[in-house]
Amino acid sequence: MKEETIIFAVTMLLCLTSVASTSGVASFYAGPYIPSACYGYSDNGTNIISVSDALWDNRNACGRKYRLWCKIVSEGIYQPCTGDHAVYVSGYDVTVVDHCGQCNVVSTTSIGVASFYAEPYLPSACYGNNDNGTNIISVSDELWDNRNACGRKYKLWCKPVSEGIFEPCTDDIAVNVFGYEATVVDYCGQCNGFTMLLSQEVFSALTNTNNGKIQVEYLQIKRVAHDLRWMREVK
Ligand SMILES: *[C@@H]1O[C@H](CO)[C@@H](O)[C@H](O)[C@H]1NC(C)=O
Ligand SMILES: *[C@@H]1O[C@H](CO)[C@@H](O)[C@H](O)[C@H]1NC(C)=O
Repeated sequence: MKEETIIFAVTMLLCLTSVASTSGVASFYAGPYIPSACYGYSDNGTNIISVSDALWDNRNACGRKYRLWCKIVSEGIYQPCTGDHAVYVSGYDVTVVDHCGQCNVVSTTSIGVASFYAEPYLPSACYGNNDNGTNIISVSDELWDNRNACGRKYKLWCKPVSEGIFEPCTDDIAVNVFGYEATVVDYCGQCNGFTMLLSQEVFSALTNTNNGKIQVEYLQIKRVAHDLRWMREVK
């Protein structure tokens, strides 16, 4: 793929959430699709993708097949995913034929350490005595952004400290794959060294033990800028 054709290149961000599935953010590129980084001037059709460094795997990605799903960014908001029920449910199979390097990466997940806080949740630093439910988090200086953090939504994943060791993360596959959404309503300053404090409810959705802390992977949900997409390699 030539440099000038990668303007709309696929942006796929690696964000390991389980052994089976990976989440990322994707965009698209348009023809001409050849030459491709994997197969030169060979025509490999159009069910193809171009992957970022995160998936390129030193050329070993060539020919790998993935099953992709468009995942709704926010619960209840189905657009812009397809109305094709079969595709939405079963996914869409594609093959890696190209490489897009950094792929115009605009957002990525981060890793932190989270603990929890318990009721009373009011008053909150952002909304005073307004009740914003329990899917809430309190962020440290690192994320507070001079109050701009208020109302930001994050997808949160419990991330095993060591690969293959899932405890103390929840057994709930859906939560491990798709993450858990929470909104920033509070500020915890230095936070005792934690990146954020999750409400007890959010914390217990992510972990199945009484552990006081977890490694947390987080992604700010930006509803307008990019669609969250999801994919899984087909072995
Ligand atoms: C792409 O096309 C070339 C030429 O037809 C073929 O050798 C290669 O196996 C194809 N790759 C995939 C992944 O289909
Ligand atoms: C929190 O609650 C208040 C009062 O209902 C509302 O104005 C505000 O938008 C809520 N914030 C979020 C992030 O939902």
